Amino acid sequence: MTSLNSENIQHAADSMDQNWVSITPSGSHVAWERTFDAIGDLVTIMDNNLKIIRANKAAYHILGVEPGTLIGQHCYRVFADRPAPCKDCPGITTMKHCRVSSAEIHHLKLAKTFLITTSPMADEKGEFTHIVHVAKDITEKLPLERQLNQAQKMGAIGNLAAGIAHDFNNMLTGISGYVELVLLKVGHDERITQNAVQVRAAIKRATDLVNQILTFSRQTKHEKKSIQVAPILRDALKLLRSSIPASIELRQSLDSTAHILGDPTQIHQIVMNLATNAYHAMQEEGGVLGVTLREIMMEGHERRPELTMLPPGPYLRLEVSDTGCGMDRETMGKIFEPYFTTKEIGKGTGLGLAVIHGIVSSHQGIIKVYSELGQGTSFHVYLPIIDRALDPVPRPELEAVVRGGSEQILYVEDEEIIAELAREVLSLYGYQVTVCHNGAQGLAHFRQDPDRYDLVITDLTMPAMNGLGLASAIKAMRPQSPIILCSGHSEIINRARAAAQGVDLYVQKPVDMMELARAVRGLLDSREGKAPSWRSGLNPDKKGRGYIDSLEKTALHPWCCSPEYQGCRQAK
Ligand SMILES: Nc1ncnc2c1ncn2[C@@H]1O[C@H](COP(=O)(O)OP(=O)(O)OP(=O)(O)O)[C@@H](O)[C@H]1O
Ligand SMILES: [Mg+2]
Repeated sequence: MTSLNSENIQHAADSMDQNWVSITPSGSHVAWERTFDAIGDLVTIMDNNLKIIRANKAAYHILGVEPGTLIGQHCYRVFADRPAPCKDCPGITTMKHCRVSSAEIHHLKLAKTFLITTSPMADEKGEFTHIVHVAKDITEKLPLERQLNQAQKMGAIGNLAAGIAHDFNNMLTGISGYVELVLLKVGHDERITQNAVQVRAAIKRATDLVNQILTFSRQTKHEKKSIQVAPILRDALKLLRSSIPASIELRQSLDSTAHILGDPTQIHQIVMNLATNAYHAMQEEGGVLGVTLREIMMEGHERRPELTMLPPGPYLRLEVSDTGCGMDRETMGKIFEPYFTTKEIGKGTGLGLAVIHGIVSSHQGIIKVYSELGQGTSFHVYLPIIDRALDPVPRPELEAVVRGGSEQILYVEDEEIIAELAREVLSLYGYQVTVCHNGAQGLAHFRQDPDRYDLVITDLTMPAMNGLGLASAIKAMRPQSPIILCSGHSEIINRARAAAQGVDLYVQKPVDMMELARAVRGLLDSREGKAPSWRSGLNPDKKGRGYIDSLEKTALHPWCCSPEYQGCRQAK
């Protein structure tokens, strides 16, 4: 600050105070002073050495000092309690460039944050004379602003997720469909069948996770149902065991058959995130990772103080503990904050525990952490047990075997991998499939011979003409043609609008080809006035028959892994 010798500053008079008086027209002096003192924000006028030569009433009031005591003091001493100007001093910028400048300054002693705005003052010749320095107390607004930034960031992540979901869903459809084909064609080889069933289970989870990210970004509620927690934990730990080194011993004790009202994917996410953190904490030296599930009765009186917010009743307590590095108090105080991480850049997002906290709260539970530096950490998750009588246990009708047919299907889809997969699967079911790669091409085919096709399946988003345009054009030509529309999560359409364009059935992407085959048969049967033939035995060719037979023997139906599957829904 001692070298303030820019061009503008050289013009400034030696005695700034005198200059100041001279630029104030005498008649308006009192009125001006009153105005100055009426301003609620802290306003000072400074010379080119950043010394205060004038301060309004609010300045003395907000800074809590006696009237007059600010005059002659340097602003950096008053606002930042520093011996020299702040690094990004807006006053210096204003002097150097003769323009308005601003910065946020935190006053340690006052524990307040100010938004400082400095503006240049000029004499009648237009030459720089003083700095007007306005300080606005933004201490209370700051957290709100940060929250808003955070919300905007989350919104941007949501948009990004929605953007990639379309492509991701298409990829998942391809992977899952070809796995189904492997299953159909593999015959009686039990090992390959089991491996493919594992791949399919992983795809299901990937699909759930994509949907979860999308639901999260849209702030919609997850559907909860009566679930048993122990099997979900067992599943998750099996997955984890294969990915953590042998230096970490996994001890699990899952002693409960209790049910909670929950979302299985989210419960899976809780244990995976906690166990992954535990593994990271023991990465250097190894140790013991403990996962325990117990039923406990929370009584009114004998509860630990940190659990008093839970209503009395039966709870499941999931405990994930490790013998790793542990945490100090300061770290423990921040771990549930979004983006708080002690991991290197690129190794952790700091979202794991923040997400878990949200999930546990939405399950009416709480999460507690106990940790000792150098000793280890234990997370306790409490989830309320529900009355087992609530179990709906719906054995979904989807478990039955799907019958094929010999009808003609027009399949319109721009993603080649999905189109070819659909052709292959539906052909296995005996259908005659014609594939087109965009709406216009599909319409041209249909127009050539409208009576030829018994059913049309179309994607929603396609070049040339989209699925809705195609559906309405087809219905205009041949109203009785049944139409199935496939669309991804990111392109959720108004169902009423789809129905108005003539869509009979809406199928959520990624399309499970087995479910599509089921939907096709159901829709065709309903048109022919038959009862849907879910249970009428088999379909495809001889190779496929082997697979279905083996599934029936082992009770492993391709769709029974996902009782909650809701891929196909009526458009109306
Ligand atoms: N079991 C544990 N032992 C020691 N520290 C832990 C443990 N679990 C969490 N932490 C601390 O809490 C921080 C936040 O955890 P969180 O799971 O939210 O994010 P992260 O693991 O850093 O990143 P990610 O988003 O990849 O999960 C971690 O960086 C770590 O400092
Ligand atoms: Mg984590």
